[in-house]
Amino acid sequence: MCGIIGYTGPKDALSIALEGLRRLEYRGYDSAGIAATGPTGIDVWKKSGKLVNLEAELEASDRGAATPTAAIGHTRWATHGVPSDDNAHPHTSQDGRISLVHNGIIENFSQLRSELTNTGVEFNSQTDTEVAAHLLGLEYAKDGDLTAAMRRLCQRLEGAFTFLAVAADQPEVIVGARRNSPLVAGVADGEYFLASDVAAFISHTSEAVELGQDQIVTISPEGIALHDLDGAAVDGKPYSVDWDINAAEKDGYDTFMMKEIHQQPTAVADTLRGRIDQHGHIALDEVRLSEQEFRDINKVFIIACGTSYHAGLVTKYALEHWTRIPCEVELASEFRYRDPVLDRSTLVVAISQSGETMDTLMAVRHARTQNARILSISNTVGSSIPRESDAVVYTRAGIEVAVASTKAFLTQAAACYVVALHIAQRRGVMYSDEVAAVVESLKAMPDKIESVVGNGESIRNLAQHIAAHQRVLFIGRHVGYPVALEGALKLKELAYIHAEGFAAGELKHGPISLIESGTPVVALVPSPAGRSVLHDKMISNMQEVKARGAQLIAIAEEGDDVTASHADHTVYVPQAPTLLAPILTAIPLQYLAVEYAGALGHDIDQPRNLAKSVTVE
Ligand code: G6P
Repeated sequence: MCGIIGYTGPKDALSIALEGLRRLEYRGYDSAGIAATGPTGIDVWKKSGKLVNLEAELEASDRGAATPTAAIGHTRWATHGVPSDDNAHPHTSQDGRISLVHNGIIENFSQLRSELTNTGVEFNSQTDTEVAAHLLGLEYAKDGDLTAAMRRLCQRLEGAFTFLAVAADQPEVIVGARRNSPLVAGVADGEYFLASDVAAFISHTSEAVELGQDQIVTISPEGIALHDLDGAAVDGKPYSVDWDINAAEKDGYDTFMMKEIHQQPTAVADTLRGRIDQHGHIALDEVRLSEQEFRDINKVFIIACGTSYHAGLVTKYALEHWTRIPCEVELASEFRYRDPVLDRSTLVVAISQSGETMDTLMAVRHARTQNARILSISNTVGSSIPRESDAVVYTRAGIEVAVASTKAFLTQAAACYVVALHIAQRRGVMYSDEVAAVVESLKAMPDKIESVVGNGESIRNLAQHIAAHQRVLFIGRHVGYPVALEGALKLKELAYIHAEGFAAGELKHGPISLIESGTPVVALVPSPAGRSVLHDKMISNMQEVKARGAQLIAIAEEGDDVTASHADHTVYVPQAPTLLAPILTAIPLQYLAVEYAGALGHDIDQPRNLAKSVTVE
């Protein structure tokens, strides 16, 4: 949700800021802008729409009189004010000496805006950010100390923010601040970066510094300094980023989403790798919970948003079955507002690819105040949610650039299976040979995922065939139900049509009235083996929709010789234990969304109105 980049050093700061914005564009693409400083002061370029518009603007201008020494850039997901040139960042103080970019929401902005307006400050935008630009300008005018001015600014603000600011008369300095929004520093020889995430500077350096909450960071070619809001010097936490630079490239695929779909076999293998030691013990990444605390857990809440929420719903089935602990799955944005009953025996599992989703972070903090234990599943090392957790499992999926999640879903489910087995093992509710059998099945999944990923062609033809329809329903039972929800979400995100997932048994209680002649219905058919009752029930539900004219697309297991005769099209996936099947059956639905949206000519990687990392509530 908004991407920001800052660079100071000997290279062309403008080009580096632009490159960084390209890598951060998945965080928002309503507008983009850059402020660059040099001997002649600050130059600002900003443009509504995608980054290409800003690039065209820069192309058409002389890109500033002199080579800039530092630059800050911003790519926006609009919150306050429509996407427009005026509302695009950077914003500049009334005296023109300060420019600033912002990610987050300043909650007390209207009160501050009235105060400033009363003193004669004129606003050029509807954004909350412009308030911060003017206030910073006024603070800077007091003593010409940009770091101290930023500190005083932050003390006046409520809400979530990451800022980067430059001043006309200190052209090599960038000052940043962080509260409840992500900011990481990149360190190279005589050059420094500040960015929303490491993707922005990974092509220049893999050495990063993690910044803490309420910290001010100052960079110049001479070095980096961190302070708290009282002005005391603090240490950042240095770490090396192990993503290789190609991670942020398309590698010959038309879209990042197709690349990421194809990465799923490796991503899941990486999630599982090394989790089981030679004694069959399952290991998590960071554990600050004792064995006893694991044994004491008597209730699990899973909290997450979007696709991660669906991974949580899949987990509930496995976790309750394996651990026998009751588990509830909740949308993070609802969780803390309904006063959930939590105590020190409650485990809250927070699932977040980015580790920064504000709804999830706030839910985690609420759970913490109620003494619950927090275990997080995340793809982003050192991000806020893992840092505030008692235990962490990293999904190791590698950077996910496409806004619509694919490999995040599979790897989160895989990581959650590991967590569930870990708890079952600690509590002694599964025999070690039972755990070993599941582990063996899990280890076989990457090859099966590979075979589904390789079967994209069959979906391609299918999607183009049904792309004329404005409504697609997805139905499933048991673990197929969350997969139906995820399939519908993918289609909504990418194709902008009405797509909805239902529990197949619930259809007859209302939603079946949506079905008209030819309405595509995608059915996630359970395995006929073992849970054959579910399979039979699903076939009945398929017949119910078929009788009302639906066009039925079935996702069925290889060897299922019943389903095809009840469906118009059947896509087969390899056999797998029922609880693990979602990490296979979700893949055809990912393809379906890509192909469907592609046939409509939509942007696959950056669907309208969305952002990948949502750092506002
Ligand atoms: C946004 C993204 C979704 C994602 C959700 C949760 O809405 O567009 O794709 O599933 O955030 O993100 P998280 O990083 O917490 O998993």
